[in-house]
Amino acid sequence: MSTITFNPGSRTWLLSMPRSSYAFQLDAADVPRHLHWGEPLTLDQVEALPHTYRPGRGDSFAGARLTEEIAVDGGTRYGVPGLQVRFADGTRALEWAYVDHEIAEAEGALSLAVHMRDRHYPLAITLRYRVFHDGDVIERSLTLDHIGDDGAESAISVLRADSGAWSLPARAGYRVGHVTGDWAAENQLRQDALPWGETVFGSRRGITGHQANPWVMLDAGDADEQHGQVWSVALAWSGTWRITTQRGTDNRVQLTGGFGHDGVSWQLAPGESLTTPPILGLYSGAGFGAASRTWHDHVLRHVLPRPEEMRPVLYNSWEATGFDVDEAGQRKLAAQAAALGVELFVMDDGWFGTRTSDHAGLGDWAPNPERFPDGLAPLIDEVHRLGMAFGLWVEPEMVNPDSRLYRRHPEWVLHYEHRQRTELRNQLVLNFARPDVAAWAHGWLDRLVTEHAIDFLKWDMNRSFSEAGWPEHGSDGQADRLWIDHVRNVYAIIDRLRADHPNLRIEACSGGGGRIDLGMLSRTDQVWPSDNTDALDRLSIQHGFTQIYPARVMSAWVTDSPNPATGRTIPLRFRCHAAMAGIMALGGNLAEWNEQDLHDVAQEIAHYKDIRATVQLGARYRLSDPTDPSGLTAVQYTSSDRAETIVFAWQPTRPIGREPGPVRLADLDPGSRYRDRASGREYDAVLLGEYGLPLDLPSGDYASSLTVLDRISPTH
Ligand code: GLA
Repeated sequence: MSTITFNPGSRTWLLSMPRSSYAFQLDAADVPRHLHWGEPLTLDQVEALPHTYRPGRGDSFAGARLTEEIAVDGGTRYGVPGLQVRFADGTRALEWAYVDHEIAEAEGALSLAVHMRDRHYPLAITLRYRVFHDGDVIERSLTLDHIGDDGAESAISVLRADSGAWSLPARAGYRVGHVTGDWAAENQLRQDALPWGETVFGSRRGITGHQANPWVMLDAGDADEQHGQVWSVALAWSGTWRITTQRGTDNRVQLTGGFGHDGVSWQLAPGESLTTPPILGLYSGAGFGAASRTWHDHVLRHVLPRPEEMRPVLYNSWEATGFDVDEAGQRKLAAQAAALGVELFVMDDGWFGTRTSDHAGLGDWAPNPERFPDGLAPLIDEVHRLGMAFGLWVEPEMVNPDSRLYRRHPEWVLHYEHRQRTELRNQLVLNFARPDVAAWAHGWLDRLVTEHAIDFLKWDMNRSFSEAGWPEHGSDGQADRLWIDHVRNVYAIIDRLRADHPNLRIEACSGGGGRIDLGMLSRTDQVWPSDNTDALDRLSIQHGFTQIYPARVMSAWVTDSPNPATGRTIPLRFRCHAAMAGIMALGGNLAEWNEQDLHDVAQEIAHYKDIRATVQLGARYRLSDPTDPSGLTAVQYTSSDRAETIVFAWQPTRPIGREPGPVRLADLDPGSRYRDRASGREYDAVLLGEYGLPLDLPSGDYASSLTVLDRISPTH
C-alpha cells in the first residue's frame, strides 16, 4: 500500500510507495522545496533533513538551491527554469503563495494536488502527484490557470511549462543512461558520465523522435543490473520535448522535463488553463534490472488500454510488396500467412488514392479503384474467412502535394506565407492543430472503420515538422500552439476512435520508432520499434527499447534473408528467436521462401503461441547484453506465477578461444528444480543461479537458442 501524509505543522508531504519515498515541504516563503527521493523514510526523518544538512554557501554569488518541485524563474535562481512566465506588464519572475491541497484515492492510485498561486499576479499553479499501490512510479503534472478577469490584454505568456522537476541527493560519480538513434537505428543505449552543468535531451521535430527517447536513468556510478540506486524519469508526450539535467559542484542533480522545445510559447488568456502531460519518476534501490521491470509492470498495469490481451502474431506485407499492393496479391499473401498460423493480416501502404509510390496520393483515403475494383470489403472478408483479423496502414497527418486533398486545401499544411514548403519523402505535414483538419481526419477514419470490418490500424507518421507556421494565427501570438495541439488532436482522434470502436486495436509507428513514449502507449496496443528488421540490429534496438517499455508492446517481424535493408544473411532460427522475444510477427516475401523455411517458421509461430504469455506479460531479466565482451546476448522471461521460465540466447559470432555460456539465470525459486521442456533435462535452481544454464547453441555464426524451463517440485 502507498500512502500520502501531510504534516500541517511543518507543511511537509510524504509520499510513501512500497519500496521508496518522496517528500517535499513549503519553506518560509511558500516555495515548494524538495526534501527526499529514494529509500523509504519516515516523516520524522524527512523533516530532519533541512536542519541536518544546511544548504551550501552564503556568498553574494551563490544562487538559490536547485530543489524546487518546479523550478520557477526569478529571484536568485540561476538554474534552468521549468516554469517560466511573462505577465502582461512585462514582469517575468514568479513568487509562490500556498493556497491549499487535497488528497484523493481513485482507481488503485492516490493523488495529491497542491494548489499554489503567484503572490501578486492572477496565475494559479497546481502541482499534481499520483502514486500507485503496487509500484514505485510517481506520476506528476502541472496545471496553470489564468484566474484574472481583466480582458485579453492581461494574457500571460507561458514561455516554459515543465511537468515537474526532480532533485537527486548529492553523490559523486553520477552517470546518465539514455538512448540515441536515427531512422532504422533507434534505441541505442548509452551510459555516460553526467556532465557538470546543463545537459539537454529532447526533440524539436514535432514527434518524440528517433534520435532520443524521453527518458533518462541516473545512477551514482555504482549501480549494475542487480544492485544500486537508480533514479529514472520518463515523459508521457509524443511531440517536441525537453529534459534537462543540471549537475552542480555540490554533486546534486536536478532534472526538469516537459513538453515543447525552446522558444515555443503559449498565451494564456483570462479563464484559460494549461495542463502539462504527465512526467513519471521511479526510484529503485535494486539496480537497472529492477528499475526496468518496475517500469514494465507500471506500463502493463497503469498505462496500456488493454494490457491483459495477448498480442496476436501478425503478417505485414510492406517488405514483401512495397507499394505494389492489389487485391489478388494480398489474397495470395493472406492465404500463405494463414497457413503459417498468422492471426492478424495487415495491409500496408499503397492501397488508396494514386499511391503507387511515395510521390502521390497521401491524403486521398479511398481505395485505389484499379487495385481494389470492388473496394476493400472482398479482401477483408477473405482475410476473415481465413480466420485472421484484418489490419490496415494509415498515415493521417500527412499529404503528398500531388493529391486531390492538397489541391483542394493547400492551406491545411504547416507553412509560413513567405517561406518554402520543404518536402521530406515528398510529403508535407497537415496542421492537426486546426480544428477543421482534425475533424476531417476523424471523419474519414471513423467512416473507414465503420464501413469496413477493420480490426487494427497501423497509424504511421513519416516525417518531422518544418516551416511550422499557422498563418491564421500569425499575429495573435497563438501559432505556437500547433506544437502542442497537433499532438493533443492526434490523441483525441485515437481516443475517440477507440471509444466508438471498442474492438479496434492500434499500432503506433513513425517511420519505425519515431513516436514511442508513454503518451502513445496509453492509447495504442503495440508499437513498431524500427524499420530495421535485421535480427542482429534488432537485438540492440530491443535492448534499448525494453529499458522502459515492455516486450508486450514491441512488434518484431521475421523478414527475408539477406535482409533487404542491411544485406545481412541470418539463419531463420536466429531471426525467429529475435522476434519471439517481443510480439512475434512476419514481414517477409513468403512467395520466395522455400518449403523448409515455411515449415520451420510455422513451427516457431506455434511455439511462440505456447510461450507468449510469459514473454508478453512476464518479468524480463537481462542476463547478458549486446555490448558484453563475450558477444552473447541473453534474456530471461519468467511468468508471474514463476512456473515458466524462458531463456533466449543469441551468439552472433564466436569469440576466439571461448565456448559460449553457460548463462546464470535470475530470480528462480531456490527450493525448486527446473525441467527443460524440450530435452527433459532437470536442473537445480541454485545451480542455475550460481553456475548457469548450459546453452544449446548450434555451431557457426548467428547461433541462437530458446530454452523453456518448467518449475517442478523438489520431490521430482
Ligand atoms: C514507414 C513505416 C513502414 C511502412 C512505410 C510505408 O516507413 O515505418 O513500416 O509502413 O512507412 O510507407
